[in-house]
Amino acid sequence: MNAESLALEMKTKQLGRNIIYLERTGSTNEDAKRIVGEGAPSGTLVVTDCQEMGKGRRGRSWESPAGMNLYFTLMLKPDFVPNKASMLTLVMALSVAKAIEEETGVHPGIKWPNDIVIEGRKVCGILTEMLLEAGRIQAVVIGCGINVAQTAFSAELSEHASSLLLSCKKSVSREQLLARIMEQFEKYYDVFCKTLNLSAMQAEYEGYLVNKNKQVRVLDPVDEYEGRALGINEEGELLVELADGSISKVYAGEVSVRGLYGYV
Ligand code: BTN
Repeated sequence: MNAESLALEMKTKQLGRNIIYLERTGSTNEDAKRIVGEGAPSGTLVVTDCQEMGKGRRGRSWESPAGMNLYFTLMLKPDFVPNKASMLTLVMALSVAKAIEEETGVHPGIKWPNDIVIEGRKVCGILTEMLLEAGRIQAVVIGCGINVAQTAFSAELSEHASSLLLSCKKSVSREQLLARIMEQFEKYYDVFCKTLNLSAMQAEYEGYLVNKNKQVRVLDPVDEYEGRALGINEEGELLVELADGSISKVYAGEVSVRGLYGYV
């Protein structure tokens, strides 16, 4: 993988046309945040073969060995209010799911809001961060780590992690996969910027949602409860039906599905 091989596959109009390829780096999310102030255009993509300080959600790290996986961050400078930005994580999850399906023929799942899973094992994680300036969005960076060809994982991850090679029995080109993701994302992002909600992609997203119609436990910092996940609304919130028939809208917090997934 290098800047030329990545650019060769890219068929988007604007997103991912400016590629910064680094053979090795700390974290592409950190790189993407740094170049915002250096005048990088919206849609710049930072891609690496190896991260030494890959970041996961909730302060966790993201294992990022060289030569086998995809680690990239898309930097955007959108013109909307900050509370809309979290929906971009779901837009990216849908784009990754569709691209994986195109490249492997396997229908993956999305564990709300943004983990991509195949047969109950996580193959992709997404970390979205936002830079604010005087209450306005300066930039949003959406970082994705996709286990493409990894076959061995640390003891901590081995039970719940997998890769496309292991789960789909298919060797996938990282360049082609990234190009497919960017094509999907550009298509959905164009619509999202007009509607500022997920109405146009809600049905497709739910087609991948592994939590749909499943019992879930909502691990909210103040209030832990159970219910049945019905799907998402236009804002990307998970709709959970409680025992008394009322519907709870889950914006933040983590949802786990009992009996199906071992990881939370
Ligand atoms: C998660 O915890 O599920 C999110 C993982 C996100 C990992 C990706 S790899 C590329 C980008 N750079 C980082 O440091 N993290 C994200």
